[in-house]
Amino acid sequence: MIRADAAIETQALTRHFRARQRAREVRALDGVDLVVHAGECFGLLGPNGAGKSTLIKILTTLLLPTSGRASVAGYDVAAEPLAVRRRINLVSGGDSSGYGILTVRETLHLFSQFYGVPRGEARRRADELLGVTGLAEKADTRLSNLSTGMRQKLNFARGFMSDPEIVFLDEPTLGLDVEASRDVRAFIARWVRERPGRTVLLTTHYMVEADELCGRVAIIDHGRILALDTPSALKRAVPAEPVFEIQLSATGDDLDPLREIRGVRSVSHHAHPATGATELRVVVDEDDRIGEVLARLKALRRSVLHLTKMEPTLETVFIHHVGRGLADEEAVDAGSA
Ligand SMILES: Nc1ncnc2c1ncn2[C@@H]1O[C@H](COP(=O)(O)OP(=O)(O)O)[C@@H](O)[C@H]1O
Ligand SMILES: [Mg+2]
Repeated sequence: MIRADAAIETQALTRHFRARQRAREVRALDGVDLVVHAGECFGLLGPNGAGKSTLIKILTTLLLPTSGRASVAGYDVAAEPLAVRRRINLVSGGDSSGYGILTVRETLHLFSQFYGVPRGEARRRADELLGVTGLAEKADTRLSNLSTGMRQKLNFARGFMSDPEIVFLDEPTLGLDVEASRDVRAFIARWVRERPGRTVLLTTHYMVEADELCGRVAIIDHGRILALDTPSALKRAVPAEPVFEIQLSATGDDLDPLREIRGVRSVSHHAHPATGATELRVVVDEDDRIGEVLARLKALRRSVLHLTKMEPTLETVFIHHVGRGLADEEAVDAGSA
């Protein structure tokens, strides 16, 4: 059943890939049921390999599902791909394709012509998008002379030239600097509000982005939706297990023994990119356990540089459901599996 106000709907959606060297199948999507209403800015939050891009590719008709079904703007993605394509657009962050000999403005004009946007309207939109992305002064620069970051901004601008009903943004601020990311987020928020029924489905690695921008967020891992709600409801629903962040000296013994401490729910760590210090995150069942953690760290010859107790954020929610943080290179799970 397709609901009248559903911009996007999936039912038991799966997509399998056969890994080339191995016989084992990868379940990129494993039974996804999702309804995104018209007018929503909806976020998909998940670690690398969670299945976010696979879902976006199916919804934008670039990939067929293995089983289950999906509809966008009321049209089935497999049976009516052209009707879907007329109503959507897609921006993949990190993508910087384009024709090197064209200028920035010519590129936007070309895309507006693909979609049959009237000239005056196309110029107005191009000017607005050039302003938002900070590309205005590069309007007459050829793509071959743009930096990768600028090409990405152009790619973002291109996604809005056709005035789509539904926009899919796969990591839209990936690789953009802080200021450009902020402008892009502000643009997305304004774009959705500007006209009723405009819908955004975005994927992101950045918790703040999902929190700030999205009315509802789905946490996805291993092709399954683990939680779905408004950011504040997700935060409220996390059992109040204390999370501590501890900054450690880089050198010392292995941190594995921390897992064996009673009451320690999960331990994950990564190296701080600038300082090289170890950033350790420990979830415990009650505050008192942290004393034992500190004692064990001392025994492991690690010095504690800093200790903080974290207030629940979307990151806490994420760790609770996924068992590790998004930034962690190396995750050690204790007890939650
Ligand atoms: N074309 C493909 N062939 C084989 N495996 C793939 C292909 N595309 C994605 N996968 C696998 O499917 C899983 C989900 O990938 P993806 O949807 O790109 O995740 P995300 O965008 O969340 O990082 C990963 O394990 C990935 O390796
Ligand atoms: Mg991806």
